[in-house]
Amino acid sequence: MRRKPGHCAAFAVDGVEAAPHIARMFELKRLDFADKPAAYAELEKQLGALLQGERDFIANCANTAALLWHSLPDLNWAGIYRLVGDELVLGPFHGKPACVRIKPGKGVCGTAAATRRTVLVPDVREFPGHIACDAASQSEIVVPLLRNGELLGVLDLDSPKLNRFDAADQAGLERVVVTLTASTGQ
Ligand code: SME
Repeated sequence: MRRKPGHCAAFAVDGVEAAPHIARMFELKRLDFADKPAAYAELEKQLGALLQGERDFIANCANTAALLWHSLPDLNWAGIYRLVGDELVLGPFHGKPACVRIKPGKGVCGTAAATRRTVLVPDVREFPGHIACDAASQSEIVVPLLRNGELLGVLDLDSPKLNRFDAADQAGLERVVVTLTASTGQ
């Protein structure tokens, strides 16, 4: 279902009521990542509801980045690089300004794009060719965005903590990106 023009999905955190002028409020639930599979399953549901009825890829990347940024603990960057021509180009994100263009094969993002596989980096100092956009980043995970075998870009999350991401994050985020890529007809 397409949203009517002027109808906006806005955020609320648990217990905060929608202002009367907001036609459609998106309620952002606090998730407990002590149980990562359960938290990611809930996140996937929230993302499905947030993206429902909207097929614009950039808009849906923007809302995905916002949801991840507000839901996941210990991040200093969360965003998307889109594949434009033969390079990755900075898309919607939260965090400090970042490098704009990355060639496939370069850095963590380019490696995930070239291999079409998730790259999990427990310590960025040990990843040869890591591209440092924020000196605070210590660990990183990059998940390729694939739809029907086509590479649309990558999801990149950075953390100021070493070893922030594990196999449960990888599994959860790989499901989350399916919701994102399936939402658009681009
Ligand atoms: N560290 C990434 C670059 C993007 S920033 O982290 C936002 C990389 O090595 O590809």
